[in-house]
Amino acid sequence: MTSYILAIDQGTTSSRAILFDEQFDIVSSSQQEFAQHFPSSGMVEHDAEEIWHSVVATCRKAIADAGINASQIAGIGITNQRETTVIWDKSTGKPIHHAIVWQDRRTSNYCNELKASGHEETVRDKTGLLLDPYFSATKINWLLDHVDRARKKAEDGKLLFGTIDTYLLWRLTDGASHKTDATNASRTMLFNTAKNEWDDALLKIFNVPRQILPAVEDCAAEFGNTVTDLFGASIPVLGIAGDQHAAVLGQACFSPGMIKSTYGTGCFVMLNTGEQRAESKNRLLSTIAYRINGKTTYALEGSIFIAGAAVQWLRDGLKIIDDASQTGGLAAEADRSQDVIMVPAFAGLGAPYWEPDVRGAIFGLTRNTGPRELSRAALEAVCYQTRDLVDAMKKDWQGQKEESVLRVDGGMVASDWTMQYLADTLATPIDRPSILETTALGAAWLAGMKSGVWPDMEGFSKSWKLQNRFEPRLDEAKRAHRYNSWLAAVESTISQSKASS
Ligand code: G3P
Repeated sequence: MTSYILAIDQGTTSSRAILFDEQFDIVSSSQQEFAQHFPSSGMVEHDAEEIWHSVVATCRKAIADAGINASQIAGIGITNQRETTVIWDKSTGKPIHHAIVWQDRRTSNYCNELKASGHEETVRDKTGLLLDPYFSATKINWLLDHVDRARKKAEDGKLLFGTIDTYLLWRLTDGASHKTDATNASRTMLFNTAKNEWDDALLKIFNVPRQILPAVEDCAAEFGNTVTDLFGASIPVLGIAGDQHAAVLGQACFSPGMIKSTYGTGCFVMLNTGEQRAESKNRLLSTIAYRINGKTTYALEGSIFIAGAAVQWLRDGLKIIDDASQTGGLAAEADRSQDVIMVPAFAGLGAPYWEPDVRGAIFGLTRNTGPRELSRAALEAVCYQTRDLVDAMKKDWQGQKEESVLRVDGGMVASDWTMQYLADTLATPIDRPSILETTALGAAWLAGMKSGVWPDMEGFSKSWKLQNRFEPRLDEAKRAHRYNSWLAAVESTISQSKASS
């Protein structure tokens, strides 16, 4: 009888369940969006309970659409938006507050205070991260301080913390399993990535009680079994990885020097640095790429907070397009004589700038600027930001060779126009694989490999297939001119935001 693998891909704006067969083919999939809450400028929240219901509904639908029995599913792999912080009551499972989303900047002042107290170096040494509101630690601290009696309850062992993977696992197993994997742990800013353990000095700095933290496992591990009445059979959860890490796996970037870029709500570039935890001198992060069979592989990461979200803003905020897929076509028809540049710093600027309080700007507007030029500016901004990251990576990591290619995935890469502009901006070939569901595939691979249904790393790498390579075509003078205009726009945006704050 055929075995299947179920991937749960819990992202920033939607939850998806994707069912794969033994040949890595997608048999069925289901997707559900959920509400984004913006209580005030710079704050972003999710209702974890709503996320949970969306996950159960999409899994049930994917299983029903495939016409299979849940007992045929050999394992579940979970991948998730990272850093987003949930604290819930151990006895009821109810979150004590909305989840604070990775994009949320409410702890920006707290981060500044910690920097002023001289903690940044310790944080950096132990975690590879920068002291920024992006990561979970300051969000946990905020929840414990702002929710009525939360700190006392946490100290009394009545509350639990988790990133989204942990919360889902806990609900799937009806409270039997409070665990995470090393990649998600590495984004909390409480995990010592050199020693692979929660770090007491960090817990002290952020004032977080150890008893609320989950146990940390390899990415492929026996995390627990779903309760039978959820899907009609108990299914083992055998894989967990943060979404960007799962994309590294799904892109089969298993060797040092391989690099992937994923375009979702944000954009995240990761360079595999092997067993070496590279220290960035150019404000990138070092992180755990994956931990398999007790062996940790590290990566350098560049994180851009707004990529697809800029296109979403054109659709939902400005309402100048009906569908995200229109932007590539519109951009191709834009008036090139208008030099419109968008700096989409809606939630501050991530790597390599790390300016949490900066907000976005558009330059070069004319009376003739319309949806075409704005679409082009939004897509170009994503390409320029990718170049910011790739340039920083090249400086940081000597093993990174000039002729490297970039493997891309995520919704935005379906646009040929955008991929060509990316190749032109980076002066690097861009490889688009035949399977674009790379994140889900990576999570599924962990579970598939652990259950023995799918091959090991070597066998799986051979299944990676190129769909199209985009070669750079733009001449050097134009490339330099456009990128320099972007750098000038970023500089003006930062100084303008600082002057008005
Ligand atoms: O670090 C945040 C990241 O994991 C979110 O990914 O795909 O929801 O933009 P995505």
